[in-house]
Amino acid sequence: MAAAGIFVTGTGTEVGKTVVAATIARTLAGDGQRVHVFKPAVTGLDEEVEADHALLRRASGSGQSDEEIAPYRYGPPASPHLAAALAGEEIDPERLRETARTAAEDADALVCEGVGGLLVPLSPTYLVRDLAADLGYPLVIVATPSLGTINHTLLTVEAARTANLHVAAIVLNPWPEQPNKIEQSNRETIAALADAPVHTLPHLDLVDLRSWPPLRI
Ligand SMILES: Nc1ncnc2c1ncn2[C@@H]1O[C@H](COP(=O)(O)OP(=O)(O)OP(=O)(O)O)[C@@H](O)[C@H]1O
Ligand SMILES: [Mg+2]
Repeated sequence: MAAAGIFVTGTGTEVGKTVVAATIARTLAGDGQRVHVFKPAVTGLDEEVEADHALLRRASGSGQSDEEIAPYRYGPPASPHLAAALAGEEIDPERLRETARTAAEDADALVCEGVGGLLVPLSPTYLVRDLAADLGYPLVIVATPSLGTINHTLLTVEAARTANLHVAAIVLNPWPEQPNKIEQSNRETIAALADAPVHTLPHLDLVDLRSWPPLRI
């Protein structure tokens, strides 16, 4: 494994894990590091948006193939265990670990993005949290800034620490230009109750990498 690595998870799906992971990867690459990216499974390829592994590759400047970034890729927008079952297969944890190991070998840093949240099944008996534990990288938890986020974030922190995972930081995303009282209070409350650093990431122009602010965890 690369000496440095990070595993980006979130309080759920669509909270901005890919955008945050891409920003971290872009920052490390901008600092002169050779960055590789990894995502255990991508689902929803039927939808016509830039796929997670494609944005991660673009942001990191990595020359990895689709297969080297995300060994399992499926069309339906379903949980990976279901998307795999619909394709008549099962995700093999050892293949995931091996792909991540290989990706880490010739890089200074490996930026990993989970799927959904920590308790999402990759296979019927292997959760995203199990993979995070097997890889051993510190976690970044992505959460929304708005009402409801305290509970979701603290549940995720608790689920991480129960499995002895280290929570390096929480990122509230997308952070508004002018946060209201609730959003400001959420940031302070989460920092205090989670006892972890809380960063924020604004809304980005995803096309223009050069306009992205750095995000150093
Ligand atoms: N900071 C941001 N700036 C611009 N767009 C954003 C930002 N954060 C999230 N989005 C948009 O919101 C949507 C969800 O973000 P993203 O794909 O990063 O979530 P995710 O947690 O990775 O989702 P999934 O669970 O499907 O992997 C995307 O369309 C993304 O482009
Ligand atoms: Mg994503």
